[in-house]
Amino acid sequence: MIPLSKPDITEKEQKAVSEVLKTSSLSLGKNYLGFEKLMAKYAGVKYTVVVNSGTSGLHLIIKSLGIGKGDEVITTPFSFISSANCILYEGAKPVFADIKSDTFNINPELVEGLITPKTKAILAVDVFSQSADWDELKKIAKKHKLFLIEDSAEALGSTYKSKRCGSFGDASVFAFYPNKQITTGEGGVVLTNNKKIYELCRSMVNQGRKNKNGKWLEHIRLGYNYRLDEMSSALGVAQMKRIKEILKKRARVAELYNKKLENIKELEIPYIKPKNKLSWFVYVVKLMNSLSGRKRDEIIKKMAKKGIQCSNYLQVIHLQPFYKKEFLYKVGDFPIAEDISERTLALPFFNNLKEKEIDFIVKNLKEIIHSVK
Ligand SMILES: Cc1ncc(COP(=O)(O)O)c(C=O)c1O
Repeated sequence: MIPLSKPDITEKEQKAVSEVLKTSSLSLGKNYLGFEKLMAKYAGVKYTVVVNSGTSGLHLIIKSLGIGKGDEVITTPFSFISSANCILYEGAKPVFADIKSDTFNINPELVEGLITPKTKAILAVDVFSQSADWDELKKIAKKHKLFLIEDSAEALGSTYKSKRCGSFGDASVFAFYPNKQITTGEGGVVLTNNKKIYELCRSMVNQGRKNKNGKWLEHIRLGYNYRLDEMSSALGVAQMKRIKEILKKRARVAELYNKKLENIKELEIPYIKPKNKLSWFVYVVKLMNSLSGRKRDEIIKKMAKKGIQCSNYLQVIHLQPFYKKEFLYKVGDFPIAEDISERTLALPFFNNLKEKEIDFIVKNLKEIIHSVK
């Protein structure tokens, strides 16, 4: 089987993790702090707090901004579930704005019309590592005095106008699940230039302890254990040392796909907005209208029979069973996101995917598309 994604772990990374196991410092040690420093430098932000998942990071951000019951946060329905769930964790309400059909990102033109006195923040996602329209979103946030949250879980290394994603929100996150550009197994990081947000996240990640001169069993606020252990942090440090090489490998795979797929008239290769540079989280094509929905799913099944794992990235959040039940969303509420969600197809994508494998994937995709048409 050619998998959809595959982590790229070298001997250096294996050694870095096993070195930690020879010490007695398995938590809150030099790797955790070192990883935080590396991430701050890379994204060009002042403060970072490493956490045990992107979801934990988003939760800490919502909480540190004081968003809670009765508040609303405007966000995208075309994302992984966490970017809306983190709003629900604190009793606030996600308010969805539909997306743009080219970048799949939240449409800033629709955001302003959704602002009410209850709106506290805009949470935009750099989906599939494509930067959101940060200039537009910043203007709206400034005008209405709203916080801007950047879910950059999928966009480590991407840029918008030559500035790194993860640096555009009042607070942002990256995530390090094994399908991401770099992995720590599970893991994530909160990034911010705001000292207050940083200090709250720093305390809450560690059970609500004082950040300085606190006693281990003294807890000054409600906190969580969202810390990342030393083994995972060491893996993160070692992966970050290779980030340039990793992104180069991903760009190579994307270029090969682009070249080999560009003449297939039944699909569109990924669109890249001018001034955006992608770090290639996934490789997702958009199928023509007549291949959407059931036909797309049939293509996925037939590809699997040939030993090629594909996926229907992403299912819209508002039509997830839990959201439909809780908020009575229905088909047609966010038509562009729904249309994109029915037509997108993620192909196997990882650093060391060979050209021979790409040829095999493309050949089968062509044949299968013709067989289901
Ligand atoms: C857009 C987005 N937000 C949040 C997350 C959550 O990250 P994690 O799985 O590390 O909790 C992901 C992970 O896939 C994601 O793609």
